[in-house]
Amino acid sequence: MTASDLLAEIAGVGRDASRGGYSRHAFDRAEDELRTWFVEQATRRGLDVETDRNGNIWAWWGTPGPGAVVTGSHLDSVPGGGAFDGPLGVVSALDAVDILRRKGFTPSTPFAVVVFAEEEGGRFGVPCLGSRLLTGSIDPDRARALRDPGGVTLAEAAAKAGHDPARFGPDPEALGRIGKFVELHVEQGRGLIDLGGPVAVGSTVIEHGRWRFSFSGQGNHAGATVLGDRHDPMLPAASVVAAARRVAGKFDDARATVGRLVPTPGGTNVIASTVDLWLDARVPGATRDLVDEIAAAATEAAREEGCQVTVTEESYSDTVVFDPALRDEMDDVLGGVPALPTGAGHDAAILAAHVPTGMLYVRNPTGISHAPEEFAEVADVDHGAVALASTLEHLST
Ligand code: GLV
Ligand code: MN
Ligand code: MN
Ligand code: MN
Repeated sequence: MTASDLLAEIAGVGRDASRGGYSRHAFDRAEDELRTWFVEQATRRGLDVETDRNGNIWAWWGTPGPGAVVTGSHLDSVPGGGAFDGPLGVVSALDAVDILRRKGFTPSTPFAVVVFAEEEGGRFGVPCLGSRLLTGSIDPDRARALRDPGGVTLAEAAAKAGHDPARFGPDPEALGRIGKFVELHVEQGRGLIDLGGPVAVGSTVIEHGRWRFSFSGQGNHAGATVLGDRHDPMLPAASVVAAARRVAGKFDDARATVGRLVPTPGGTNVIASTVDLWLDARVPGATRDLVDEIAAAATEAAREEGCQVTVTEESYSDTVVFDPALRDEMDDVLGGVPALPTGAGHDAAILAAHVPTGMLYVRNPTGISHAPEEFAEVADVDHGAVALASTLEHLST
């Protein structure tokens, strides 16, 4: 079975009939089904499967140990996401094992395929939770207390799914076994379309983060409240949406997005009492400067409407430069391929602070990601798996 055959096997899991695409979130039914599927696939290949204290799944080819060559990605998605972001790296890893086995290759180093938990933060808000917990880059108490939109905490959801959230936290043993990590991922922009090639290696990940803006005003009647009597938090909230685009335009290569906005109570004929929105901001070298400027605009707009605002940083990741030596090795093995920067975050970017890490991107002919139109041609998917196999063979020889 090739990587594209494996993707086809899971194509029915977690489809989102109302939003389109896929909604597969940490510890929900769809993600659980995919994790079970992965364990079956790994077991069928004779890999030894273990789940670490943070819910990340490891499938070992041979004896686990330090200096391991590790590859993998995630199986969760954003709400209404595409079929490739995450699963492509997992199925390509399984395919790479098959390709290497068919060649009669046996790794000389420990070798593992990993599935990280909750990469997108689609349910609990903080991205790369599995790798952040593993590496100690999030306080486990804070992680356990994160809530999904329905108010369920991460600890509750994890316990319901059979994990022990009391054990969440830094895992020096699991981290200490990784010698090198390579994540294959669908490309999420136009990079490879413009370059005209099927694969690229990752060069950098732009610094990025998420901020919550909470506005409060006075809930009231939409018909009976004259304009002068209103303290409508939707007004300053709207100003953030506009400021995100306007302020981002002043910075070089900046991205700022409001993709989620929640008015309470959320009635057509009700002036909201509170509005929460989330700003996703990514600016080379200046993300917090951009957020400060947007926050100042929000504070002024809130003051004009007689509302209050608080701004909370919910996650932040610094710029990542993938290991240059590993990148050169990958480039050699692949016979010279482009190096691409990306604005998307990845577990690889979290691990990069701890172990030599590299990424491989597979061309996405739509240039669209985090949406149902995300795509990769079968030939490119299979090319990507072969490229990954060659890379892993080189690293584990
Ligand atoms: C994850 O894909 C992100 O960068 O938002
Ligand atoms: Mn993603
Ligand atoms: Mn991803
Ligand atoms: Mn990502």
